[in-house]
Amino acid sequence: MKSPKFTVISLFPEMIQQMVAQGVVGQGLKHNIFELEVINPRDFTTDVHKTVDDRPYGGGDGMVLLCEPLELALKQVVGEDSRVIYLSPQGQLLDDDKVKELAESPHIVMICGRYGGIDQRIINLYVDEEVSIGNYVLSGGELAAGVVIDSVARFFPGVLGHQDSAHSDSFTNGFLEAPNFTRPQNYKGQGIPTALLSGNHKLIEEWREKVGQLVTLSKRPELMLNVDLTVESIRDLYLFWQGLSAQERDLLGLSGLSAEEFSLLLAAEEEL
Ligand SMILES: C[S@@+](CC[C@H](N)C(=O)[O-])C[C@H]1O[C@@H](n2cnc3c(N)ncnc32)[C@H](O)[C@@H]1O
Repeated sequence: MKSPKFTVISLFPEMIQQMVAQGVVGQGLKHNIFELEVINPRDFTTDVHKTVDDRPYGGGDGMVLLCEPLELALKQVVGEDSRVIYLSPQGQLLDDDKVKELAESPHIVMICGRYGGIDQRIINLYVDEEVSIGNYVLSGGELAAGVVIDSVARFFPGVLGHQDSAHSDSFTNGFLEAPNFTRPQNYKGQGIPTALLSGNHKLIEEWREKVGQLVTLSKRPELMLNVDLTVESIRDLYLFWQGLSAQERDLLGLSGLSAEEFSLLLAAEEEL
């Protein structure tokens, strides 16, 4: 089977190549688990100055990337199975569901804008969707392309080793991950939650699942509403939380959580 492929159209190809060469994702690229192609619209210009941008019609700040070099670049790379994305602050926000969906695509083509953005007619003609990495404006799409590649490639089989397995990461089951601890067993007066020292894998897994739910309720309570919870499971979670000592709650970063958050969650669940 062919490896999935990313094509990035960017005026700063080195930025993409450097970002993607690092860490587990870089190893995945090296081992051909996925392919990366970076092309520069400047190579598709026809004038002596290699012009890629021009002033916007109607005036205003910021140059706009010209249609022609982008179109020639797109024509060279887009095929039947390509999904063309324009990275844009106006796009759909990238989240875990979107990342998983993109990981199913055989070929993702990403256009990185610069300056004031790209000519709307390229979006109209070639772009399947616009994707944003957050409600803020970057000076170019390259960092966003790096974010898409990094997050999507983690779902390609073989990119993550056993140790970095995505299966326990935040968002996998709708909740955030439980906090992690490593050696030493005592660090500046802070120990390790006793459950993690028990050696009982089943118990540890159940404990982590519950703590992940508490962390979610504490840090991102709105995420709790996206998960199928029952009144009983909320009561169970409350009892589990009550069973944690004040010291353990501190250790787990849960000292801000109070009975009120559970009541609010119960009320919201009963309304659903
Ligand atoms: C300065 S921005 C242009 C913003 C554009 N004038 C607007 O207001 O929508 C330059 C380029 O950075 C990229 N970019 C900026 N913010 C982004 C975001 N939040 N997510 C993805 N790409 C972004 C886009 O490719 C954009 O064309």
